This record gives sequence, C-alpha cells and structure tokens, in this order.
Amino acid sequence: MKKELILIGGGGHCRSCIDVIEKENTYRIAGIVDKRGKVGTRVLAYEILASDEELDTLAGEHKTFFITIGQIKSGSKRKELFEKLKALGVEIPVIISPLADVSKHARIQEGTIVMHGAHVNAGAEIGKNCIINTCAIIEHDCKVGDHCHISTGSILNGECLVGEGAFIGSNCVLSNNIVIAGNSVIGAGSVVIRRIDEAGTYVGNPVRRIL
Ligand SMILES: CC(C)(COP(=O)(O)OP(=O)(O)OC[C@H]1O[C@@H](n2cnc3c(N)ncnc32)[C@H](O)[C@@H]1OP(=O)(O)O)[C@@H](O)C(=O)NCCC(=O)NCCS
Repeated sequence: MKKELILIGGGGHCRSCIDVIEKENTYRIAGIVDKRGKVGTRVLAYEILASDEELDTLAGEHKTFFITIGQIKSGSKRKELFEKLKALGVEIPVIISPLADVSKHARIQEGTIVMHGAHVNAGAEIGKNCIINTCAIIEHDCKVGDHCHISTGSILNGECLVGEGAFIGSNCVLSNNIVIAGNSVIGAGSVVIRRIDEAGTYVGNPVRRIL
C-alpha cells in the first residue's frame, strides 16, 4: 500500500511536484495545506484540506509531509516551514523523479525534490529541503547547502559549493569550482565565472551585483 503524503503549498511549484510524485508512485497524496481562503478548493485532483495554522493538528493525524511552496529569491518561508515540520516530528522524504538521473554515489538529504530530467552526478551532496528543478545539472562533487533552489535548466559544473538558502535562477551556468555565498540570488540566465563571497543579487554574463 502507498504511504500517504500531505503537501504544503498549493501553487505552481506544487503542480510540478504533483507530477513528479505521481510518476514516482511511492506516495498517495492525501491532501494539500494552503491559505485559509483556499480550503475546500482543489489543485489538480487533490483537495486543499487545511490551512497553515492547522499544521499542528494535521501532524497528529498524518505522518509524512512535503513542502511544495516555490522559492524565488528568498528561501526563508520554506526554511521556516521545514523547521516547523521537524519540530512536529513528522517524516519529510526525499523525492526523486524516475525521469531524473541521480548517481548512486551522490547524497541527497530529507525534504529535497529532484525533478524530471535533472542530473546529479557522482560525489554530489545536496542538503535538506532543496529544489533541484526540471533539467538542472549538478555535476560531480558539487555541494549544495540546505534550503537552496537550483532552477530549471541550470548547470553547476564540477566541485561548486552553493551556500545555504541560495537561489540559482533558471538557465544559469556556474563554471567549475565556483563558491556561491549563502542566501545569494543569481538571476535567470547568468554566468558565474568567479566565486561570490558576499550574499546579494547578481545577474548577467559574467555576473554583476545589482543588490
Ligand atoms: C534577478 C531577479 C531575481 C531580479 O529581480 P528584481 O529584484 O525584481 O530586479 P528587476 O527586475 O527590478 O531588475 C533590476 C535590474 O537588473 C536587470 N536584470 C534582472 N534580472 C536579470 C537577469 N536575469 N539577467 C540580466 N539582467 C537582469 C534588469 O534588467 C534591471 O536592470 P536596469 O536597472 O538596468 O533596468 C530576477 O530578474 C530573476 O532573474 N529571477 C529569476 C527567475 C527564475 O529563474 N525563475 C525560475 C523558476 S524555476
């Protein structure tokens, strides 16, 4: 029998996660948590059962939860929810699309989703509560900290280090051995050829700091 899973966050990223979870076929989605005004509506085939304020009660009734709110720029909301779920003692699985390619020599921690078409190569280490989005490439020996979002089609070449809470926009390229300071935001389509030691918002090819 499939395990029941409650999703937290019913927006666009949730719909992408649902497709991954359905194809992965380990969990039965028992419902979604979202804002109070949305309770009773549906996201694809699944009902919004409860609001964020009711998480404590839901944790008494269900064992396994997964965060499906998106992360553009700051990962603080996802981090806050992750810490709340940990404090409630529930299980937060790793979800890997059957259409992704993850090396058996890679390590991926709880709460992280690896979406369709992504590649995670040997020696890579991905922290907790990350989004490795559709068709992203995490090359050998990269380390991605907790609560990061590596967006669609981005490439992290070998041995890059991405600090906790960073957002790497869609279609970015990090040259090999690049360090990205935690909580940095790298705009869509950017190319990073030198390490970034100070958190900020960076865009362009090569990147320049805008904030
Ligand atoms: C970097 C980003 C977060 C900045 O957003 P913002 O703070 O609202 O910034 P603005 O749109 O006001 O842009 C500020 C300046 O940076 C430039 N800029 C913004 N994003 C840029 C990018 N990705 N590449 C090049 N220049 C960019 C703008 O043209 C603007 O320049 P100007 O001041 O000369 O007019 C956003 O543009 C971005 O790239 N988001 C990522 C989206 C994405 O990848 N989503 C993935 C979902 S899976």
